[in-house]
Amino acid sequence: MTILGIETSCDETALALIETRANAGVFECRIIQSLIHSQAELHSAYGGVYPNLAKREHQKNLMPLLKKLMEPIYGDDFLNQKPNIDSIAVTEGPGLEPALWTGIVFAQELSEKWKIPIIPVNHMEGHIVGSLLQSDTPSGTWQRLKQAPMPTIALLLSGGHTELVKINAIGNYEILGQTLDDAVGEAFDKVARLLGLPYPGGPHISLLADQAREEKISSPVKLPRSMMNSGNLNFSFSGLKTAVLYAVKKAREDSQFTEEYKKSIALEFEQAVAEVLNSKLKTAIQECGALSIIIGGGVSANNLLRQTFGKTANEYNIPIFMPSKHISGDNALMIALAGALHGIAEERPLRADGTKRL
Ligand code: KG4
Ligand code: ZN
Repeated sequence: MTILGIETSCDETALALIETRANAGVFECRIIQSLIHSQAELHSAYGGVYPNLAKREHQKNLMPLLKKLMEPIYGDDFLNQKPNIDSIAVTEGPGLEPALWTGIVFAQELSEKWKIPIIPVNHMEGHIVGSLLQSDTPSGTWQRLKQAPMPTIALLLSGGHTELVKINAIGNYEILGQTLDDAVGEAFDKVARLLGLPYPGGPHISLLADQAREEKISSPVKLPRSMMNSGNLNFSFSGLKTAVLYAVKKAREDSQFTEEYKKSIALEFEQAVAEVLNSKLKTAIQECGALSIIIGGGVSANNLLRQTFGKTANEYNIPIFMPSKHISGDNALMIALAGALHGIAEERPLRADGTKRL
C-alpha cells in the first residue's frame, strides 16, 4: 500500500510518501520521500506562530511541494493521471485550526481527483509512531518498526502539547497527565524570547545550556520545579516562564544581563524542565508497570532531556525509543505512518479540531 502523508498543523508544510507491506504477517514500511518546508523564519518576526500567516503559507507551499514530491516518481501529469497511491493520511488535529484546514482541504481535493480515501490522523499519535522508525535505515529500504514492549509510557513534548500517555497497543491510548497551561515547547520558546533569542527558541536555549555546562557556568537563580510534588501527572510551565521574566527584569535593572547570565538562565531553565518531566515520567512508569518508554515531539531533540530520560530507562532496565533528531520535529512521514497503521479506521467527516487531544 502506498500512502501520501500531509502535515500542516503548525508552521511546517510537510508531505511524505511511504509504502507499506505485511511480510510474514509483520508490518514493514519503506520511506519513498519526505519533504518539509519550514515557515519558522517568517514567524520569527512575530516571536511565535501566527495562525493566519501559517495558513497562507501552507496554501502557497502545498502544491509546489507536491510537485517536487510527485514529478520525479509519477511524471508531470500526476494530477490528472491517477498515481499509484492508495490513500491519503492527513493531520486533522490537534493544531492551529486555520493551518489544519489547509491540509484537510488539500487532501480532500486530491482524494476527489484521484478517487482514493482519506485517513484522518492525530498529530500526537504521529509523534508516537515516528519514534518507532529505525534511525539508521537509508531512505528506500524496507524496515520493521521498533517494537516497544507494552504497556509503554509515551512522553510527548511539543510546541502545543505536553502529555504523558499510557499505551496498551498502537491505537489504544490513555492520557495520564498533561499541561494545565503552557506546553513545554511553548515555555522554551517564551523563555528564549525573554532572553532575546529567535523563534523557535528551543534549539537556541539548548545550545546556550550546553555551552553553560561546557564552561561550567552555574546559575545565580533557582527556578521553580512547578507541580513536581502535585501528586498527579499533570504539568505546569507558565510559573517557570514568569520566574524567568522576573529574573531577567532584575538582571537588566542591575546591569547583569550578560551573555554569561543568559547561558546560566538557559541552563537552570532546562534543568528545571528536565527534573519535572523526569519525575512525572518515573511516577507514570511505576504506576503503570511500563515495560518501555517512548519520547516524542520537537522538544525531544533536546540533549539534556535525551540524556535524562536515557538514564531513567537504564534505572528501570527498560528500553527507550526516541525519534532520530531529524524527524523529532513536525513531518509528514509520521503522519503517513500513523495512517498506515490505522488503515481506514473509521468513515466520518474530517474536522480540524485545534483543541482535540490524543
Ligand atoms: O513537535 P514540534 O515540531 O511542533 C509542534 O507540534 O508543536 O515541536 C516544536 C517545539 C518548539 O517549541 C521548539 O522550540 C521545540 O520543539 N524544540 C526544542 C528543541 N528543538 C525544537 N526544544 C528544546 N530543545 C531543542 N533542542
Ligand atoms: Zn508536533
